[in-house]
Amino acid sequence: MTRKTWTAVDNYVSDMLVGADAMLDAVLAASAEAGLPDIAVSPAQGKFLMLLARAINARSVLELGTLGGYSTIWLARAMGKGGRVMTVEADPHHAKVAQANFERAGLAAVIDLRSGKALDILPKLAAEEQQAFDLVFVDADKQNIPDYFTWSLKLTRPGSLIIVDNVIRDGAVIDARSRDPSVRGVRRFNEMLKAEKRVGATSLQTVGFKGYDGFTLTLVTG
Ligand code: SAH
Ligand code: DHB
Ligand code: MG
Repeated sequence: MTRKTWTAVDNYVSDMLVGADAMLDAVLAASAEAGLPDIAVSPAQGKFLMLLARAINARSVLELGTLGGYSTIWLARAMGKGGRVMTVEADPHHAKVAQANFERAGLAAVIDLRSGKALDILPKLAAEEQQAFDLVFVDADKQNIPDYFTWSLKLTRPGSLIIVDNVIRDGAVIDARSRDPSVRGVRRFNEMLKAEKRVGATSLQTVGFKGYDGFTLTLVTG
């Protein structure tokens, strides 16, 4: 099985279960046009995030790492009346493209985009946010995942989900001697999860047209 097969099957799943989506196509086209890297979640993963958010009836979502807002829009589509998605993006160009995409999608009122480094913004959120987030999607730089997880625990409640993207990294996650800051970030995160009594977590490997990677699903339990 190779990437060619993963891609064909991903396309098949997208055709059968996600379907054509002119708005999301336009969002990806505008992002590519603006020179953003092609690293958004896949359609199948985006829909998975939306379904998870729906399943827990999420009303408040926090995302770290907006890029052009593709995953943000999937999450925002899961919000019922009064639901809000806050998303944090360090790169001002990415943030500008994302904001235009939210307006294009008619979701600017639902999405609160904060421009800045997540580690600068998270302490402010902790100070200002009265209500816990129901779901956190961590998809920014990977070396800071351990700190993002610590903040996510502070900003959630029992029953909340914390989803962390890109935790398998072509299998590099099992290399204990890796010097790659992203791999080290993920490995430290796994050590934290192993020791943390207040959560239940698992990771699933994924293949598809984006290659071989995976995500961690964490349920806050206490
Ligand atoms: N969630 C997006 C993809 C995000 S790609 C999607 O699936 O559609 C990762 C993003 O994180 C990039 O846009 C990058 O600029 C941003 N990023 C990197 N370091 C960051 C930081 N310290 N704080 C906030 N965002 C950061
Ligand atoms: C990268 C970041 C992501 O969030 C992702 O899903 C894939 C790749 C990256 O920084 O290369
Ligand atoms: Mg990602």
